[in-house]
Amino acid sequence: MSKLSNIVILTGAGVSAESGLATFRGADGLWEGHRVEDVASPEGFARDPALVQHFYNLRRAALKTVVPNAAHKAIAELQQRWSAGTVTLITQNVDDLHERAGSPSVLHMHGELLKVRCLRCETVHTWHNDITPDLECMSCKKAGVLRPDIVWFGEMPYLMDDINPALATADLFAAIGTSGNVYPAAGFVREARRFGARTVEINIEPSGVSSAFDEHRIGPASLAVTDWVAELLGDQNGG
Ligand code: OAD
Repeated sequence: MSKLSNIVILTGAGVSAESGLATFRGADGLWEGHRVEDVASPEGFARDPALVQHFYNLRRAALKTVVPNAAHKAIAELQQRWSAGTVTLITQNVDDLHERAGSPSVLHMHGELLKVRCLRCETVHTWHNDITPDLECMSCKKAGVLRPDIVWFGEMPYLMDDINPALATADLFAAIGTSGNVYPAAGFVREARRFGARTVEINIEPSGVSSAFDEHRIGPASLAVTDWVAELLGDQNGG
């Protein structure tokens, strides 16, 4: 096998499932109980801001009840201990479990639950509590102008200028706990492959883009990711 330097990891809701956060699709998924266009689109927000704020207030409050699991911790350990090159962590998740597990750098391409954005002055602020109608923007001091800093359907994902070069220089690309339904993230495997990366999917079941991967590791992230990271660090250390 050629020398392995740069690793790119893409995570999705499946990596946080064992921490107790609902995934989006499938039985009990968040999108089973809601119409995506109502709670995850700019049009839905314009139609009924109270409904959308309530949906994300519940998600934000739920973060206070959960902790990182073994998969988040293993990824953080890989980032901290990998010395042969870089480990770029891209997540579609809006939770903060990667950070709390100790990941030194996380590219939140779909935004973050713990951030709010002002529709008036465009500033972004950290916010851990409910967004209420009387909450003022911490910069321009106007009330009722804050929205969750989440990328909704029809909006541009964040950080693509950091993500594209990482995919182009990856030797190994891993997608963990993501269903491969939402682009551009679902296309990252093909992009990384085009530039010569080996690709691995870690999931409890094959995703929608499973056939694009070289290797499949089927199992819960807490076990499968822990094993995968142990192998990588073992190989690095000559084990
Ligand atoms: P999904 O809910 O679409 O998919 C979750 C994936 O995790 C599925 O493929 C499951 O098989 C897998 N999974 C569940 N439990 C797992 C476990 N314990 N271990 C490993 N895998 C497990 O979530 P995402 O793919 O992250 O976007 O969804 C992508 C985007 O769609 C989200 O970021 C969100 C949503 O609409 C926005 O809100 C913009």
